[in-house]
Amino acid sequence: MKLPRDFYRPLAVGAPEPFREPPVRLERMIHFTPPHIEKVRAKAAELAAQVDVILGNLEDAIPIDAKEAARLGFVAMATMLKGAPAGVWTRVNALNSPWFLDDVTTIMAEVGDRLDVIMLPKVEGAWDIHYLDQLLAQLEAKHGFRKPVLIHAILETAQGVKNVEEIASASPRMHGMSLGPADLAASRAMKTTRVGGGHPGYRVLADPDAAGAPRASAQQDPWHYTLARMVDACAANGIKPFYGPFGDFSDPEACEAQFRNAFIMGCAGAWSLHPSQIQIAKTVFSPDPQEVAFARRILQAMPDGAGAVMLDGKMQDDATWKQAKVIVDLARTVAERDPERAALYNF
Ligand code: GLV
Ligand code: MG
Repeated sequence: MKLPRDFYRPLAVGAPEPFREPPVRLERMIHFTPPHIEKVRAKAAELAAQVDVILGNLEDAIPIDAKEAARLGFVAMATMLKGAPAGVWTRVNALNSPWFLDDVTTIMAEVGDRLDVIMLPKVEGAWDIHYLDQLLAQLEAKHGFRKPVLIHAILETAQGVKNVEEIASASPRMHGMSLGPADLAASRAMKTTRVGGGHPGYRVLADPDAAGAPRASAQQDPWHYTLARMVDACAANGIKPFYGPFGDFSDPEACEAQFRNAFIMGCAGAWSLHPSQIQIAKTVFSPDPQEVAFARRILQAMPDGAGAVMLDGKMQDDATWKQAKVIVDLARTVAERDPERAALYNF
């Protein structure tokens, strides 16, 4: 086992010091773009003004004959986005694919100083993180970068879920994790062809009554268990959990419900795969103004966070003070980037 004191040492001579605390950034949506398409690249700067994170996707959904064009397209896009307010991320191909090595080496050589996060798909265990961690340290040293690129894992295999705690604590380079419901469904042999969301067959039925009235039934959330495990693993290690993709663009209500469940459970954001999902994520992952106002009243009523007070008939103590602080801290981070929200919060 690695000695605790070595955990924060750079993994290559000349590589930057790992972050002790990950940078505080607003990441309500990770907006996916296909960088091999010229029209998309042409709009990247405009998009970067609207989203918190812009991601160039190189993995699934990119045709095999466009893999290289996507890689080079991302290099062009990231170069263009120098100085843009959004975070710049890429999703590289999987570790066992024929494209991974060139994805990482080319992108680090060309735009490694502009890249914030590499999203690594199909992570199965800490060993996958250790490999990319070492490789990135070598490339950062080789190219003389002073800021480490972070790693974001996609949790999308049964083996990954089994090892989620080890993945979350594998390296100080870990930024966070996203739930990938499409690949995870396949890996588990779940019987669905959807990308996230509920399923009409996954429900709970009320008991029959003596009069034989129609029985109430409600759909359940098939992702609740995994999301909860992922949130605990991330929170316990000081990194950020995210819900991933919602594939039915014709059902914004269901997308909003899925995103909101994730937000309430502790997630920082979700993926937006379609422009219509940007606004949904912005609304959901920014705290509700009424909730912010109430949370501020709690903080004001208990300036040192100790003791107990009653507000509108509700008991407040140290624990609700901490809950209120989570909401107000997030609202302040949102307000710094989003003047419309700042006005709603009265900051
Ligand atoms: C995302 O990559 C997923 O598989 O859901
Ligand atoms: Mg996937």
